[in-house]
Amino acid sequence: MLKLEKICKKYDNKNIFRKVNFRASTGEIVLLTGESGIGKTTFLEIIAGLRKIDSGKYYYDNQEILCNDDDIMSGFRNKNIGYILQDFALVDDYTVLENIILPVLYSRFFSKEEAILRAKSFALKFYLEKELDKKVRFISGGQKQRVAIIRSLILNPEIILADEPTTNLDKNNFRLVLEMFQELKKQEKIIIIATHDDRIKKIADRSYKIVNQEIIESP
Ligand SMILES: Nc1ncnc2c1ncn2[C@@H]1O[C@H](COP(=O)(O)OP(=O)(O)OP(=O)(O)O)[C@@H](O)[C@H]1O
Ligand SMILES: [Mg+2]
Repeated sequence: MLKLEKICKKYDNKNIFRKVNFRASTGEIVLLTGESGIGKTTFLEIIAGLRKIDSGKYYYDNQEILCNDDDIMSGFRNKNIGYILQDFALVDDYTVLENIILPVLYSRFFSKEEAILRAKSFALKFYLEKELDKKVRFISGGQKQRVAIIRSLILNPEIILADEPTTNLDKNNFRLVLEMFQELKKQEKIIIIATHDDRIKKIADRSYKIVNQEIIESP
């Protein structure tokens, strides 16, 4: 279980969150919705330890995590978090395969050979096997989206953070990605998706909406 309590966050003098609470359990798909610019990405970044909070508490598996400590959070992120970024953050001059296995080279949780096998099996599932040796700059937006998704899963994380993971996808790829989230749910992962896409609602267990610097659970 991931639990954030009374989180406050400001950028300069602008309030983003005022004492917000949030939780997500294993085997749960939780949505984070709200208008553009309201703080969805910021909240995912806080969970990932990529943004500091002004106050509040962060718990994982009933243990407090010091989420403003860079060393603690880089270890925590490596071990537990797969993050699909809104802008993908792929390396254009690397191939698809090189991008996918990049986290493995940093973390050393798997050997490179194992990582390549994992990458290839994901690529088959997401119809990217022909793209593996292409440089990312030469593939389409929807293909990039799928590469970013695969890269987030390569280390087999317990928590998956997905920032608008379906915006660039056509109907077939959208269905694939939805099935993947459902599969991750079966594997008892924690899945948190920031989205505007109403089509995702049907697979969500719970939804939160950010309004007026608060996060409210919406029906
Ligand atoms: N590093 C930063 N410094 C100052 N302000 C920031 C910073 N990053 C984001 N903001 C501001 O914080 C607010 C929340 O941004 P955020 O990116 O979290 O919104 P969002 O809900 O993800 O929006 P979108 O749906 O467009 O992706 C915005 O008003 C944004 O301009
Ligand atoms: Mg965003």
